[in-house]
Amino acid sequence: MKLWGGRFSKATAKILDEFNASIPFDKELYIEDIEGSIAHSQMLAKQGILTQKEADKIKEGLLKIKDEIEKGEFVWDLSDEDIHMAIEKRLIELIGDIGKKLHTARSRNDQVAVDFRRWVLKRNKEFMAKIKELIEVFVDIAKEHTDTILPGMTHLQHAQPISFGYHMLAYASMFKRDYERFKESYKRNNKNPLGCAALAGTPHNIDRFETTKALGFDEPTINCLDSVSDRDFALEILFNISMLMMHASRISEELIIWSTSEFSFITLSDEYSTGSSIMPQKKNPDVPELIRGKTGRAYGNLIALLTVMKGLPLAYNKDTQEDKEPVFDSVKNALISIEILKETLKTMKINKEKMYEASKKGHLTATDLADYLVKKGVPFREAHHITGRAVALAEKKGVDLSDLSLDELKNIDKRISDDLDLSLENSMKSRKSYGATAPERVKEQIKYFEKFLKEEND
Ligand code: ARG
Repeated sequence: MKLWGGRFSKATAKILDEFNASIPFDKELYIEDIEGSIAHSQMLAKQGILTQKEADKIKEGLLKIKDEIEKGEFVWDLSDEDIHMAIEKRLIELIGDIGKKLHTARSRNDQVAVDFRRWVLKRNKEFMAKIKELIEVFVDIAKEHTDTILPGMTHLQHAQPISFGYHMLAYASMFKRDYERFKESYKRNNKNPLGCAALAGTPHNIDRFETTKALGFDEPTINCLDSVSDRDFALEILFNISMLMMHASRISEELIIWSTSEFSFITLSDEYSTGSSIMPQKKNPDVPELIRGKTGRAYGNLIALLTVMKGLPLAYNKDTQEDKEPVFDSVKNALISIEILKETLKTMKINKEKMYEASKKGHLTATDLADYLVKKGVPFREAHHITGRAVALAEKKGVDLSDLSLDELKNIDKRISDDLDLSLENSMKSRKSYGATAPERVKEQIKYFEKFLKEEND
């Protein structure tokens, strides 16, 4: 007989049990469920709705169940429907009639809302910790490479020389925004829906502020009708993860390109690469490829839950049971992705010489020549044209623009004089505007991220 079986005269069909049950996946919430029930029953005792003795008996029973689950002794039964009913049923088996008092002044609707919310909030914190570690790695690499030149690209075509440290800090910037999003979501959603009961609140004299304190929330939610059907917290983490994975996918793409024999800017460590089953010479970048691939399901999970929630009338609807699997999946895959991305970055070899060699292709300092002429009073359009002629000469000679001699350049235009320096180093160092690639500016950026990390770690 089901816990709710009073008005039913026939048992449910087996296929209904299979279709209806969330227990195969929502057992993930057992800790939150047990903690929520302890907080609820202790509050009921404080309010004189249960005796303290009853509440303590309930607590004892719940802790025993936690133990059983953790030791693998708990018997999972599909016909219990979900983690909430499974635990309550076992509690009644263990402590008898007192266990039947636990569900006073609450419903599974606020119970699942509080359990799932707390589970998601905890994961927000885990993401924050992981992202900080990742940013730290970008900063560490940047520190070593404020002078390492590589071709900065637009359209994946050589554009201007930049430093590898600068490039790494572009990613630190992205992941810092991700960090902030998880932090803000935590703050916004750290509100307690417990005690909202089915949808309208309860006539019992409960104290929602008490359970709020016990469960570590900032405050109780303000409207019960909203609280039992709100899944914004779940959607937020799915969106935050989608954005995070989009960023992870972008660096992954670069790692894949950089590790090709055409680029060879980096060499992935053996620990974080894989081989081919047929081609013995191969070393494949499976890690960044998988991260790039997993980004797809992160987006899919977000769209899935957005679609579930669309058009749902107030308040609770069983559709919402579909909220958990996408979130569990996204969280699991993104946490491991960020962890392994960090290790891959930490252990990769950075091939400075290859980066420099590549920077010698594509006349990266052409804009510098045009800018030089503009400073000498040449109108930009004309400067552009003169630079074009210099590039043509370099092409004809089969060298890079930065390798033309001063005399050759002077021959192109008489306004060119001894103070012209078209070297890659000079080009990179001259870009000193705020937030730019010059080493002194990159050092400023390093300080900025170090300050952020320090503040967030304190
Ligand atoms: N397993 C359900 C879920 O995840 C719990 C809430 C059930 N509430 C109800 N009124 N049937 O949504």
